[in-house]
Amino acid sequence: MKALILSGGHGTRLRPLTYSQQKQLIPVANKPVLFYAIEDVIEAGIHEIGIIVGPNADQVKKTVLSRDWDANIEFIYQGDPKGLAHAILVAREFLGDDDFVMYLGDNILREGIVRHLEHFKKGNFDASILLQEVPNPQQFGVVELSEDGKTIKRLIEKPKVPPSNLALVGIYFFKPVIHEAVRNIKPSWRNELEITDAIQWLIDHGYKVGWTKVTGWWKDTGKPEDILDANRLILDDIERNIKVKTNARIIGRVVVEEGTEIDENTVIKGPAIIGKNCKIRNAYIGPYTSIGDNCIIENTEIEDSVILEGCEIRNAGRILESLIGRGVKILKSDNHPRGRKLVIGDNSQLVL
Ligand code: TTP
Repeated sequence: MKALILSGGHGTRLRPLTYSQQKQLIPVANKPVLFYAIEDVIEAGIHEIGIIVGPNADQVKKTVLSRDWDANIEFIYQGDPKGLAHAILVAREFLGDDDFVMYLGDNILREGIVRHLEHFKKGNFDASILLQEVPNPQQFGVVELSEDGKTIKRLIEKPKVPPSNLALVGIYFFKPVIHEAVRNIKPSWRNELEITDAIQWLIDHGYKVGWTKVTGWWKDTGKPEDILDANRLILDDIERNIKVKTNARIIGRVVVEEGTEIDENTVIKGPAIIGKNCKIRNAYIGPYTSIGDNCIIENTEIEDSVILEGCEIRNAGRILESLIGRGVKILKSDNHPRGRKLVIGDNSQLVL
């Protein structure tokens, strides 16, 4: 069994952060989203991992190789992001004739994949997909089940009239017959080789496609609000671990990493995580906040936010529900002329 983890694509919905970095590297609770996928496949006993890389290939390689994994990791370059089924075509040589799990590198699944892999193996399926009940099936790939609810009849991308509320999660198990399927489908209206079309090809040609329902939460971190949501969900599970000495008031499940200085005028209310070598003075860090390494936070209140490494935020009032990229400065000036002075990247969003 192998794993193919997808870390390509342009991530346009996460601009401006994705102008300078691959979206799967955006941290959730101070860990790149991609690492959650790698950990899940290793936990399931899979040690041969191929990672599809695209626009920021070197960045992904460097970040992944900064950690010691209990797996052989190969990087597979996909020139243009021409679809999820295209990624399988590109990885043909790596995958060989082995069964594999395909895991979208921007997805996080709380329960991991062990139970789902067992179901795929036991049922001797040609493919098995994960489904989750969602309140808004119009926005997902959705399945239509047979009358007895046992088999999948059809997969439909973003249906106007959804036949069910069961959405496809970005994790799929395949036998090598999928290679025949991806060779036989045509690009969709958006000019991508769709994985849903390849799975539909399997169904139409009499192959056995199984499914399992996800019981815990699942998050596709495609948009800024999804990153904040995933951050809340992950922080809900952290344990208190303060690795520094401080006289600050720290309430509840808070993680503070080494080298961080927090003065006695600061209040931190968990769940929250603060990275290494930060300086926090006269600040309030509220629930569901992740602050990356090397940040300076002074005379500011931050709640329910993800702040990436190297930011400097001083006298900035109250910051809420925000996603702030690397090395950002937010400062308050008392000089004339008064007013907001902004140097903001393309496609940024400010709600003042
Ligand atoms: P999408 O969420 O469609 O990724 P995207 O980068 O196209 O995002 P946006 O719509 O914001 O521009 O793809 C799902 C996952 O698969 C994501 O982790 C990126 C990855 N991917 C590839 O690796 N190769 C591809 O050809 C495509 C389409 C996606």
